Amino acid sequence: MNLKDCHNVEDFRKLAKKKLPSPIFHYIDGGSDDEVTLKRNTESFNQCDLIPNVLTDVSKIDLSTKILGQKIDFPLFLSPTSMNRLYHHHGEKGTAKAAKKMGTIFGTSTMATTSIEEIGKVTTGPKLFQLYIHKDKGLTDNLIERCKLAGFNSMCLTVDTVVAGNRERDHRTGFSTPPKLTLESLLSFALHPYWTFNHFLGEKFQLSNIIHMTEKGSSIEKSVMDYINEQFDPAMNWKDAEYCVKKWGGPFALKGIMSVEDAKKAIDIGCTAIMISNHGGRQLDGSRSPFDQLSEIVDAVGDKIEVILDGGVRRGTHVLKALAIGAKACSFGKGYLFALGAAGQKGVEAILEKMKAEIKRDMILMGCKSVKDLNRTKIKFRKS
Ligand SMILES: Cc1cc2nc3c(=O)[nH]c(=O)nc-3n(C[C@H](O)[C@H](O)[C@H](O)COP(=O)(O)O)c2cc1C
Repeated sequence: MNLKDCHNVEDFRKLAKKKLPSPIFHYIDGGSDDEVTLKRNTESFNQCDLIPNVLTDVSKIDLSTKILGQKIDFPLFLSPTSMNRLYHHHGEKGTAKAAKKMGTIFGTSTMATTSIEEIGKVTTGPKLFQLYIHKDKGLTDNLIERCKLAGFNSMCLTVDTVVAGNRERDHRTGFSTPPKLTLESLLSFALHPYWTFNHFLGEKFQLSNIIHMTEKGSSIEKSVMDYINEQFDPAMNWKDAEYCVKKWGGPFALKGIMSVEDAKKAIDIGCTAIMISNHGGRQLDGSRSPFDQLSEIVDAVGDKIEVILDGGVRRGTHVLKALAIGAKACSFGKGYLFALGAAGQKGVEAILEKMKAEIKRDMILMGCKSVKDLNRTKIKFRKS
């Protein structure tokens, strides 16, 4: 199996499984506890069906939308994810270039392995920086200032990760950051010489955005989970979020909003957008899926704030269903990380091309000329 055999996210997942040492693959693929939420995030899209209209002249289709101040070519963008260099030696640079080529937003994490400044140099495309609030408050100001200088267009604050989720697959596989050659992992690394060679002989693994601020940024003792539990600030509250919104002064999203109450508070503190998200099922297992929660939030705040659906998206029809309920755009994480692990920058370009083509074909089949034509008349939930 190789790149040309990959037609959808699941194919890329299979190829990534083949190409990556097992601790790395399972770090991307896994969720927390029993992975109930991880599974539900995608399953929830199947509780409803699309209702097409015909004979609507769909010879010209406009997939573009505007989100977080940026016009993007199609309504799906790259959620911020940590440590891209771990999944492929092209790392965030490859992911950022692929997003620019495909005309969508590249999201990068505080926990990236490529610095804000390097990303600024690599791409002139739309860039979203994802902020984590550390106990050391100086770090927040430092990251925000650097993003302004590097030409980032928007920012999000992740609010669902005050402690690390319980990712049991990582305990079983012995996942560590940076990856270590232990007796347990030796076989897995030996079986994946391409990844192993490029990882250990390429650029040094480091958390490039924070390495200068905390010694832990270059070498995390056991795992990224220890870093989260030691460095992130569990006292984070709405005042801190408001501080970040004001300090940034541009398009700003809260990522990890799941309740109507919190969506309303996001409006009160001046956010541009909310990302309805449970961190891809990697944090609170048993929490509701973003799609299940979407209509309630859209009904309450959809005309006052941009609503982004983040989590479980694997197909073009998932994006159409979210937009029909009232989301302005969707974002995805694992979908492009599998592609990165499978084939680097080319893989990310390929999955974005395929998702864009799916969205376009599905819009044509739905009789919709523009994303604005997607509304609640186009969708029906099955009776349970
Ligand atoms: C390997 C991996 C690393 C991630 N790292 C971060 C991160 O550093 N910051 C963050 O806010 N979200 C992170 N996420 C969550 C994504 O931004 C996104 O919310 C999630 O992947 C969406 O669900 P999906 O994977 O089903 O598309 C990560 C997700 C994965 C799979």
